[in-house]
Amino acid sequence: MYKILEKREIAMRNTWYKIHAPHVAKKVQAGQFVIVRAFENGERIPLTPVMWDRDEGWIVLIVFTRGKTTMRMAMEMKEGDYLPDVVGPLGNPAPMERFGKVLAIGAYTGIVEVYPIARAWQKIGNDVTTLHVTFEPMIILKDHLERAVSRHIVEPVPLDPNLDLKENMRNVTKRLTEKVREMLEKEDYDLVFMVGPVGDQKAVFGIVKEFGIPMRVDLHPIMVDGSGMCGACRVTVGGQIKFACVDGPEFDAYQVDWDELIHRVGFYADMERKAMELYMA
Ligand code: FES
Repeated sequence: MYKILEKREIAMRNTWYKIHAPHVAKKVQAGQFVIVRAFENGERIPLTPVMWDRDEGWIVLIVFTRGKTTMRMAMEMKEGDYLPDVVGPLGNPAPMERFGKVLAIGAYTGIVEVYPIARAWQKIGNDVTTLHVTFEPMIILKDHLERAVSRHIVEPVPLDPNLDLKENMRNVTKRLTEKVREMLEKEDYDLVFMVGPVGDQKAVFGIVKEFGIPMRVDLHPIMVDGSGMCGACRVTVGGQIKFACVDGPEFDAYQVDWDELIHRVGFYADMERKAMELYMA
């Protein structure tokens, strides 16, 4: 059992959990993730340790409320409660190389995964710029990133109550793609890295490709067991079947079959929405 040492809402729909999980804290590296089961018989959700302390044995997870389980966590769990399972660390650590000048992009809560990787890349001598594009009330980790990398840019997009969610999200995609184009036109980068919704990753990749810059992405299709057994996180990369949980989560954006991935993610999003509706009924 894994005790919740701290829990607080840090931005709209973003909750910070400090969890006592010594076996994860001892070994986790930037780029890896854990699978959390928050409730007995509940679904398993993949989450990224954002920071950790190996000596004190804790990790921090920032959880975006987007489906039934994360909603229950936000509403029902409190400090002192226990999570039944925190399995990990899983997946491969991000490659720790001297790339040079790096642009690391987080759309929405993707910045949670960008943070530990960007920080580690900067520490080993890369010149890292991070870009966070999200709705204004959902800005997170700003101070942390300003301390960790050469330059941190936040592009807040107002959440317009007169628009539906899809239209609001279209505004984020627009701001994101415009900003990336502007940055690539102004400066030379050796690598672009991005975490965020797959549709936005594909849109940014379209721009990066025009500039011929290497690009890597963390992919997050639906995950169940996190150990390569269930097949849920299947992606096609370089014409071969890969499992994001054991072969990734980081891949070469030029090799990803984006259309197939978008189709698969969309299918599960519908199921997730139905579970949420049942819970809220
Ligand atoms: Fe089951 Fe990757 S989560 S194979």
